[in-house]
Amino acid sequence: MNSDVALVLAKEDGRPTTSASMPRMVAMMLRELGVEDGDTLLEIGTGTGWNAALASHRLGSDAVTTIEVTPHFADRAAERLKQIGFTPHVVCGDGAEGWVTSAPYQRLIATCAVQHVPYPWVAQTNGVMVIPWGNGMCNGALLRLNSDGHTAIGGVVEESSFMWMSGQAPADWPEETTGEESATDTDPRVLTPNEARFAVGLCVPGCRYRVDWGDDAAGADCTLRLTDGESSASVRYMPEDSVFPVYQSGPRSLWDEAEAAYRWWNGAAQPGFDQFGLTVDRNGQRAWLRSPGNPVPVRT
Ligand SMILES: C[S@@+](CC[C@H](N)C(=O)[O-])C[C@H]1O[C@@H](n2cnc3c(N)ncnc32)[C@H](O)[C@@H]1O
Repeated sequence: MNSDVALVLAKEDGRPTTSASMPRMVAMMLRELGVEDGDTLLEIGTGTGWNAALASHRLGSDAVTTIEVTPHFADRAAERLKQIGFTPHVVCGDGAEGWVTSAPYQRLIATCAVQHVPYPWVAQTNGVMVIPWGNGMCNGALLRLNSDGHTAIGGVVEESSFMWMSGQAPADWPEETTGEESATDTDPRVLTPNEARFAVGLCVPGCRYRVDWGDDAAGADCTLRLTDGESSASVRYMPEDSVFPVYQSGPRSLWDEAEAAYRWWNGAAQPGFDQFGLTVDRNGQRAWLRSPGNPVPVRT
């Protein structure tokens, strides 16, 4: 591997199902993980086995457990690892459960993205967890949490983009419906920057985002679409307009929620990724801005 790109190794319906991550990202995640001699480590998402090989080289194969949900990826990774002299515990299963048999771990690294950090990861780790954390509007932030086996707390250290862990991908797009019409003077393009979408996505759980660009010569008109799988919203932007038509259908008014969340984010001085953090305990997870005592206003 001689370039800083992710290598997609398998696809299903055009979507990647496994890949070797970007080398820069792998190195950065391992740096954040900060393993020490004698640590045991749990990896979620074995993929090619490359990360497991690096961890086995550093900590010894016996200290490393790696879980892969797809049986033939797990088998091939175990074979490859063996060929180069490493024999970590390669488990085939759903990483959302962790792997209690070898717990507790001092380090946990996930190489697939989650919207909700599974509690078994917290319960099985006494130490540092590095986890790609996203939401339906923005796939990517890397969390570094400290877990004492009951509660995990920490912040975002970097932007990231990983394939979703199975069961945690955002809702599918439903058939398009128009719904009830209203209007907004908020330019829907305010939601296009990653930082805005990440923050708004935290406040509007389950909401997915897409922009359909129009085909006018300047390429300036567009339609913002939101859905949680059941409710949908769309807002049409036209360059000459200052008020934009909104269509919302279903039990939630997703544009109203997103617009309120945008106003909150804007009023908080447009905080970037590294201003956000997460607390996870057996009651669930709570995202916060700047400090654990300052929860993000989650709309439901
Ligand atoms: C980006 S790849 C992992 C890269 C890998 N760490 C490496 O070194 O090559 C993400 C992997 O997560 C796996 N995965 C997705 N959902 C999972 C789940 N619920 N449990 C375990 N693995 C999962 C995918 O099958 C895929 O192989």
